Amino acid sequence: MIKDLTAFYSKAALNMKRSEIRELLKMTRRPDVISFGGGLPDPETFPVKDLEDISCQLLRDKGAIALQYGPTEGEVPLRQEIAKWMSREKATKPENILITVGSQQGLDIISKVFLDPHDIVVVELPTYVGGLQAFNAYRARMIGVPQDDEGMRMDLLEKTLAKLAKRNKKPKFIYVVPDFQNPSGVTMSLERRKKLLDLAYQYEVPIVEDSPYRDLRFVGKPIPAIYSLDSENHVIVLGTFSKLLCPGLRLAWIMAPTEWTDRMIVAKQSMDLCSPSYTQLIVAEYLKRGLLPKQIENIRKLYGRKLEIMLDALKKYMPKGVKWSKPKGGLFLWIELPKRMSANDLFLKAIENKVAYVVGSAFHCDDAGQNTMRINFSYPSEQQIVEGIQRLAKMLKANM
Ligand SMILES: Cc1ncc(COP(=O)(O)O)c(C=O)c1O
Repeated sequence: MIKDLTAFYSKAALNMKRSEIRELLKMTRRPDVISFGGGLPDPETFPVKDLEDISCQLLRDKGAIALQYGPTEGEVPLRQEIAKWMSREKATKPENILITVGSQQGLDIISKVFLDPHDIVVVELPTYVGGLQAFNAYRARMIGVPQDDEGMRMDLLEKTLAKLAKRNKKPKFIYVVPDFQNPSGVTMSLERRKKLLDLAYQYEVPIVEDSPYRDLRFVGKPIPAIYSLDSENHVIVLGTFSKLLCPGLRLAWIMAPTEWTDRMIVAKQSMDLCSPSYTQLIVAEYLKRGLLPKQIENIRKLYGRKLEIMLDALKKYMPKGVKWSKPKGGLFLWIELPKRMSANDLFLKAIENKVAYVVGSAFHCDDAGQNTMRINFSYPSEQQIVEGIQRLAKMLKANM
């Protein structure tokens, strides 16, 4: 019998961290707990009837293709429809679209293609925890650049890049979630997007633009996507249907310059051979029928109303000294407690008070942000939002 099973793990496997969020979220599943913890869409938005109709027709008419293995890069009709969708902002060809099993797989593929152990990735502080997990699995070194309410601070990014250049070092890429960021809800301003591209050109660093929430804007005008401002093929884009249709489809895409797309297709081959043809062809038909804009409009209305209710409740019940972001879209807002308070220490007290959140430190590559928390407003009902914020406020007041 093997005595030390761990002796057989690769360095990469030993380096992989269990997601703190997933562990904490297990506690929030108790039916009496109101959870602001997950990042789940409201199932009310799932287009069940349309997907049922399309699915039945697909099985009747094209079952032999839909249930067969498909090309690694994805089904042509879906790549064409996504290219059309992306071309709303900048002309895009289907050849530059690679279909993935969720954007999380996209992050893994990008990491696999670009990262060797100890390579540097620049990330926002805070940033999407699944990004950190993917880069960490390939043993990259993350350097965090703080953000404010206009997104990543470009003065600090410039300093970071200059400092690295002095030591002959160059990050493999800069990872940003520029629209209604998970976790903070912040959107990067146009000026910062332009500056980000200027710096990326100057220091010759690619940008990974991960934007699952881009179309979920409730108020104001959209700010151009970074890829639409890019003239030098510096941007890899991650898009997903998880928040526009439903996450259970596990369908997303990477859009990248041709040479990089080809590399990523090879990397994907050994992961899964191909994404499921069945779900790809369903979504291709859904897009072809022009159903997505109306679907997005419905989501915007529902989440916009939920956010308003949450902002009102925060204003009404939160004690002095607690601050929160006011996002214009997406699924999340960010709460900042007074510096001396720790959202990590208070987590179990919150659960005792039957309310849950995600600790902000999980989104920091440097373990900072102890006094912060991420709050989701898409999943809880309107009544739960009010009740949950009241419970959270009461618990915070009692511990101030
Ligand atoms: C910024 C960001 N990137 C990627 C993902 C993963 O999405 P998917 O469901 O497409 O794997 C998420 C999911 O919440 C996210 O917030």
